[in-house]
Amino acid sequence: MSASSPESGLRSPIAVIGGSGFYSFDGNETSDSASLVSVSTPYSSAAELVLACATPAGDIWFLPRHGTGHSVAPHEINYRSKLWALHKLGARAVVAVNAVGGISSRMTTGTLVLPDQLIDYTWGRAHTFVEGNHSFAAHVDFTFPYDAQMCEVMESAGKQAGLHLVRGGVYACTQGPRLETAAEIRKLAADGCDIVGMTGMPEAALARELGLRYCSVAVVVNRAAGLQSEEISLAGISRELAEGINRVRRLLLQALPGLLDITAP
Ligand code: HPA
Repeated sequence: MSASSPESGLRSPIAVIGGSGFYSFDGNETSDSASLVSVSTPYSSAAELVLACATPAGDIWFLPRHGTGHSVAPHEINYRSKLWALHKLGARAVVAVNAVGGISSRMTTGTLVLPDQLIDYTWGRAHTFVEGNHSFAAHVDFTFPYDAQMCEVMESAGKQAGLHLVRGGVYACTQGPRLETAAEIRKLAADGCDIVGMTGMPEAALARELGLRYCSVAVVVNRAAGLQSEEISLAGISRELAEGINRVRRLLLQALPGLLDITAP
């Protein structure tokens, strides 16, 4: 698979998948869109539009998971097409950014989390590249869904940038698009989940199937349902997202040299 993009001239082994509120790497869609790369994949009739970003810390691919301006809901995202496009561009490692609700008490609003485990509660999503006849290789190991070396780099970058970052935690992926009931959150807590979001799966498993390293930076934008007296405010989530994403940008810029180091051939 080619490690460069003829359209943009950019070569990078690192891709960032932006979640809610994170639609361009530098927050300026006009400058990013100057190097928009269109990638065809077998999984979609429409090409994936990936931003080729030259940042002060190095080059990256940037793919907004929901499209620009949040047009695609979590259960309708074409995860296979997105991961395939990044792989085709030569990415070897993916940093996923996910908005989440906090379940365990240390996951307070505003916290950045590097989860180390996940539980998949989604259903009906196209969750694998394996179709029809398959070999034994279809059964990828997924004991540790997130790449520990990438998490190490992210954690030390967080310290260098002076950011409060929690390393480790169990990410629950729910189907959405509605938020959970209070009882569902009590069940997730009993299952050992620390944070809850809607976009972590099947993305992480598809990355594993393609042999891509993968880690997640989860931004806690609310306490999960039933854990505070009032209902969850969408305006509050938007506010927290805007602040959280700025911290994620700082973290990524700090981490990029280390990520490039561990993915060097
Ligand atoms: N639940 C599920 N997904 C979310 C939440 C939540 O509370 N907050 C942000 N994404």
